[in-house]
Amino acid sequence: MSEAVRQPVLAANWKMFKGPETTRAFLDRFMRLYPAHSDRSVVFFPAAISLSAFLAARSGRDDLEVGIQDVHTEVEGAYTGAVSAAMAAEAKLGWGLAGHSERRRDFGDEDATVGAKLRRLLEAGLRPILCVGETLEERRAGRLEEVLSRQMESVLDGLASSGCGTWHDKVLAYEPVWAIGTGETATPRDAAEAHGLIREVLSRRATDEPAATATILYGGSVKPDNIEALLAAEGVDGVLVGGASLDPDSFAQICLAGSDR
Ligand code: PGA
Repeated sequence: MSEAVRQPVLAANWKMFKGPETTRAFLDRFMRLYPAHSDRSVVFFPAAISLSAFLAARSGRDDLEVGIQDVHTEVEGAYTGAVSAAMAAEAKLGWGLAGHSERRRDFGDEDATVGAKLRRLLEAGLRPILCVGETLEERRAGRLEEVLSRQMESVLDGLASSGCGTWHDKVLAYEPVWAIGTGETATPRDAAEAHGLIREVLSRRATDEPAATATILYGGSVKPDNIEALLAAEGVDGVLVGGASLDPDSFAQICLAGSDR
């Protein structure tokens, strides 16, 4: 297992919050609270309209990486309001989310769409984060493993049949839908269990990389007061943070977890 591949990733998903001005104000404070650390990756997913402001305001702080929250399944075309992975690459972004539960729930992204978006991100040279997770009903019905497998197998099958190449350095985020924006956090044990299942699905597949090298983040009501326990859970390699990433002080505390500051 390569430790370098699994260095912790602390990611901020800003969703539909922060325009260019508030993005600049956030960074102004955050950069004073969080100096660059070479033992972790910090990645921001600002709203598309604020990406240029982010890139300009982080000047000199290339350790603060940037990604796109969503991309279209096509490279370009007459798709009003949409952004493509190729455009994200042209804008020098490094990362992209695929399969966030809000896209699945509110925009109808099905497994096949998520797979197509992930392929576009790979083709464009970006690092995708594949988000998977079960709803409360699915969890209560004992369907955790089935849901995680379905969400992952579909993407992995699509990749295999498209011949679009290998997904190296896999990054996934386990985000139980019932824990997103609810204040309800999965216990470190829940997270460890789900991360173990995700790794099992990966190792069942005949890929050219061992499942142990995949980076698996936890997402869902991560806060400064639960970050240490979550990062200490077996198989948790980082976090994808929504609400608590909007405040520079609280996200800086999350990013500094386990460091000597
Ligand atoms: P939350 O969101 O931290 O506000 O629960 C997490 C996410 O949706 O990625």
